[in-house]
Amino acid sequence: MNIILIGFRGCGKSTISKALAKELNYKYFSTDKEIKKLHNKSISKIVEEKGWEYFRECESKIIMGLKELKDHIIDTGGGSILTETNRENIKKAGSVVYLEADFVDIFKRIEHGKDRPKLTNKKDLEEEIKALLEERKEKYLSIADFTINTSGHSMEECTRAIIKNLNLK
Ligand code: S3P
Repeated sequence: MNIILIGFRGCGKSTISKALAKELNYKYFSTDKEIKKLHNKSISKIVEEKGWEYFRECESKIIMGLKELKDHIIDTGGGSILTETNRENIKKAGSVVYLEADFVDIFKRIEHGKDRPKLTNKKDLEEEIKALLEERKEKYLSIADFTINTSGHSMEECTRAIIKNLNLK
């Protein structure tokens, strides 16, 4: 079985995916990492050179192949849920966990994070996050088996909550 973590940038997907993989002895797979590996470049560089449309095409191809994986924790990019085809392919690949976080936490993590090129033309990061959260929330929820709010919870607590929800231990 695969466990797929979805959610906005800065919700803790990578950290929690790695902790889950370790705890359950599953392999870790990241859609962003695959795209970077294929190009041997950062996401910022790929987007700068080829644009978001190209990045999304690469992302969709990787998502199409997720169902072939066995016993992986899959860490998806925040925009993986944007198309219906991607959402269907994510659903087919395993149990889907939606990680949410409060706006303030997301803002702090993105503000200081690296390799997160702007997603909109909005000048203000706060505006960008709020608009995209609003736009994407329904899409995350539409394929989630359950939701975990990571704000105010340690990585261990979130990991344990996911394992308990999936009846894995
Ligand atoms: C994106 C989120 C990023 C990465 C890319 C686009 C998005 O992944 O896939 O920059 O559209 O929200 P993280 O959610 O891991 O930051």
